[in-house]
Amino acid sequence: MTVREIATRPYDDQKPGTAGLRKSVAVFQQPHYLENFLQSIFDNMPQWSAGTVVIGGDGRYFNREAIQTAIAMAAANGVAHVIVGQRGHLSTPAASHLIAKRKADGGLLLTASHNPAGPDGDFGLKFSMAGGGQAPEALTDKVYAYSCEIAHYRILEAGPVDLDQLGQQSFGGLRVEVVDPVDDYAELMQSLFDFDRIRAWLADGHSVCFDGMHAITGPYAQRILVDMLGARADSVINGTPLEDFGGGHPDPNLIYARPLVDLMMSADAPDLAAASDGDGDRNMILGRGLFISPGDSLAMLAAHLDKLPGYRQGLAGVARSMPTCRAVDLVAAAKGIEAHETPTGWKFFCNLLDAGRVTICGEESFGTSSMHVREKDGVWAALAWLNVLAETGQSVAEIAKAHWASYGRHYFARHDYEGLDSDVAKRLIAAVQSALPELVGQSFGGWTVSLADSFAYTDPIDGSSASNQGLRIVFGNAARIILRLSGTGTSGATLRLYLERYEKDTDKLAWDVGEALAPLAAIAEQIGSIRSRSGRDAPDVVT
Ligand code: G6P
Ligand code: ZN
Repeated sequence: MTVREIATRPYDDQKPGTAGLRKSVAVFQQPHYLENFLQSIFDNMPQWSAGTVVIGGDGRYFNREAIQTAIAMAAANGVAHVIVGQRGHLSTPAASHLIAKRKADGGLLLTASHNPAGPDGDFGLKFSMAGGGQAPEALTDKVYAYSCEIAHYRILEAGPVDLDQLGQQSFGGLRVEVVDPVDDYAELMQSLFDFDRIRAWLADGHSVCFDGMHAITGPYAQRILVDMLGARADSVINGTPLEDFGGGHPDPNLIYARPLVDLMMSADAPDLAAASDGDGDRNMILGRGLFISPGDSLAMLAAHLDKLPGYRQGLAGVARSMPTCRAVDLVAAAKGIEAHETPTGWKFFCNLLDAGRVTICGEESFGTSSMHVREKDGVWAALAWLNVLAETGQSVAEIAKAHWASYGRHYFARHDYEGLDSDVAKRLIAAVQSALPELVGQSFGGWTVSLADSFAYTDPIDGSSASNQGLRIVFGNAARIILRLSGTGTSGATLRLYLERYEKDTDKLAWDVGEALAPLAAIAEQIGSIRSRSGRDAPDVVT
């Protein structure tokens, strides 16, 4: 076995987005493309030399080859110990947990999250730090800069590692340990939730449906819900991970998880339904006849979390990304705990979690999690809801109605304009931004603008700052309009328009969401001229 130093030329497009480097499979399959990015990571993570690295992915097409390459390069770059999920599988939250539990020096996660998979789909790679949180922006910027100059990479020439065989193998000087992807995660869930109570609730005739969307979470849901909690065998649907995710788009939202939504609106609806995305970090929650928006799910879980075993000591604080509706802020105020507003991107929560300042956090993009890992966690969210239902004896609809009755309701939707020309999208944002200073004090449809700015954030723990994190037009507590460009797309630009409207009168809590937000959408159009500037008549996705 020899370590080879291979000459290479830089690519200029290896800049990680909101959650790692995401490109089409064809781009990743270009000569040395993956290797260049990996070497740029290894050379900027000196702590990995002689250290331990966790490796796993969402099982999509190219996962196995990429993992073999990552292991061969880890060996050539002096990593001592690699912990890899069997078959190369690890959900993103399970990987985060393994990194922390095994005190690894970081991890490589091979995933393009919810983006479609297969030879014509997308691939992705992100890296994590000790503790299981994603690399901070300052570091991903360094890796990008490095990738623009790279001239060599190092790789061990040796046969492939057997990813199917559990246990230890040696690979040059590297110890490779293949682990069951579910074991440690299932144990963690058992420590947080009241499995006996959930089991009894299910045995009592209650039901759950979990949609694995043919991606990574099927085996996790099968083990925990069916094998450990005794849910009926048909409680997990689309539970077998496939390399092309069954040709689907494993993004749990009202558009891409439509069959699950239809089930919940039908007479056969179980008590709770949940879906997770390609790599298992996103979640969607539905009750019988009712969709719980991610911002509401965060607020409702925050309100009930201290009834669950892992959280009985109470909540330290909460956090949400800026575009996420402000429902959870009201729960925090009622509990007298801190509420943080961060830029989009889970990594911004990690310092707060590490410092013990927040217990639960979430994002409008179907992400919810707690201090138990440093990633969002779809299966966790489903189990948290199950435990709340089992603990309170209430239905999802009862929980939601009681919540709105005591806190008021935040109507929320996101309108996406996908595949815009990048320059068109940038010009649109620039035009709206330049109009912001004049908006303050102006009234639109009875709402007055109290604040209009480009969101900037200073991390209260390490003082690092991030600017230009989205334009916000705030109408006091009553409403907000937010505009930003997605950081996760792989082609062109996606403009996201977020609308939030707050009502607390009892006769205003059961409106249709679209109708409640229509006046705000009209104001957004009046201020932003989105249609004429984007050349589009309507958003591609409303969720
Ligand atoms: C990923 C990240 C999230 C982020 C989401 C939306 O899922 O992990 O933290 O909120 O993408 O990002 P985008 O930039 O596309 O709105
Ligand atoms: Zn994901």
